[in-house]
Amino acid sequence: MVAVAILAAGKGTRMKSSLPKVLHNLGGRSLIERVIASCEPLQLERVFVIVGYRAEAVQNHLQTYPQAEFVEQREQLGTGHAIQQLLPHLENYQGDLLVLNGDAPLLRPETLANLLKLHQEHQNQATLLTAHLPEPKGYGRVFCDGQNWVTQIVEDRDCNTAQRQNHRVNGGIYCFHWPSLAEVLPRLTPSNDQQEYYLTDVAHVLERVMAVDAADFQEIKGINDRQQLATAAAVLQNRTKEKWMAAGVTLIDPASVTIDDTVEIGADAIIEPQTHLRGKTVIGAGARVGPGCLIEDSHIGAGARVLYSVISDSAVQAQSRVGPYSHIRGQAEIGENCRIGNFVEIKKTQVGAGCNIAHLSYLGDARLGERVNVGAGTITANYDGQNKHLTQIGDGTKTGANSVFVAPVNLGSGVTVAAGSVVTHNVPDGALVIARPRQRIIENWSLKTPPA
Ligand code: UD1
Ligand code: CA
Repeated sequence: MVAVAILAAGKGTRMKSSLPKVLHNLGGRSLIERVIASCEPLQLERVFVIVGYRAEAVQNHLQTYPQAEFVEQREQLGTGHAIQQLLPHLENYQGDLLVLNGDAPLLRPETLANLLKLHQEHQNQATLLTAHLPEPKGYGRVFCDGQNWVTQIVEDRDCNTAQRQNHRVNGGIYCFHWPSLAEVLPRLTPSNDQQEYYLTDVAHVLERVMAVDAADFQEIKGINDRQQLATAAAVLQNRTKEKWMAAGVTLIDPASVTIDDTVEIGADAIIEPQTHLRGKTVIGAGARVGPGCLIEDSHIGAGARVLYSVISDSAVQAQSRVGPYSHIRGQAEIGENCRIGNFVEIKKTQVGAGCNIAHLSYLGDARLGERVNVGAGTITANYDGQNKHLTQIGDGTKTGANSVFVAPVNLGSGVTVAAGSVVTHNVPDGALVIARPRQRIIENWSLKTPPA
């Protein structure tokens, strides 16, 4: 039986923000969402979130986690005081309590599982996650005997010079045998430099308190300011890139690429410089994306090629070519083997397989069949000032350069649209439509109007 408590009551003064610290974004998700994700695989019995500073904002933010129980800590009198708030909620609870810092988002589920396993195997009263930091400033220092049994935890500010030389730090991530912790919690006193109730003080009264090192010291790092937020983002980026390179993805100039950890990439895909993959994006096997692309919440099919383009909330099927300088957005769907070229914007439009939209076009709220050839400068006039309307274009139709479709309008299949047409009425299959003034030639015009 395991319950978890996530400490999230603090303001995060050093962030200099109106947003509570745990709501800051790191690679597409908030700090607290990341902390929840790190413990979710453990099959927790209860999930407590200790809230205080702007409690309602944190609570609203976590509406999608029905399991979360919010416990208010009205005054933030320290981490020990925060956990004291659980006493009425866990009366008679006999299991273990995992305590996580809401500001430590780099923790991996495997690390927590290992902490819990060792805690239970050794029947400890407390097990805490430690790491050896090259720069331990700001962290509590953990002192152990030769067998990782903890003898003392001293906060950085309470350390003497000799104690500061110890680089083994407290990650603020613990596993407690709850009945043992519940017994000593009420006895904490704020007898330290900050006059706070330190959770770490329980280590001095509990028995069998063990320290376990995290495999990677980055995992325990807390976020207290914007600089640490940026450093954590870089750590996360490196992890994500290493994972995809190990899975057979080529990253050219990885330092200039960013990939959210929610993205999926197929083997043999090539991600070129200055490319950013965000949200629920999926890149198919063997696709080539970049240089210079931003792909958000979109699906790029196998073997597709995207160059200097922006794609959001859309799909591009296998083997299609996009760019340079295309913008595909708003649930657009590009079929297989299409060619979307320079300065083409496509919004909420379905494009069938094998279409060519090679230059300078805007297609909004349209449905194209297969093998449609869209001439340079083709525009859908989809908005009448109040509503958006649909343009439908059948298989194999060719639109002339600079044609405008005033929606709602349907063109059949095999239609030919003359260049410069403004099409306002439906066109049947196989027809030629010319919808522009006829060219007139008035000879010798210049002779009639000599210069003044
Ligand atoms: C704490 C640990 C320190 C450890 C470090 C790791 C204590 C006394 N110290 O220090 O040993 O190295 O974490 O990051 O525990 N919070 C509340 N209520 C409060 C105070 C804090 O919910 O009354 C929350 C904060 O919002 C934050 C977390 O607890 O998410 C940690 O608090 P913080 O003040 O950052 O603790 P540290 O000084 O970093
Ligand atoms: Ca902290």
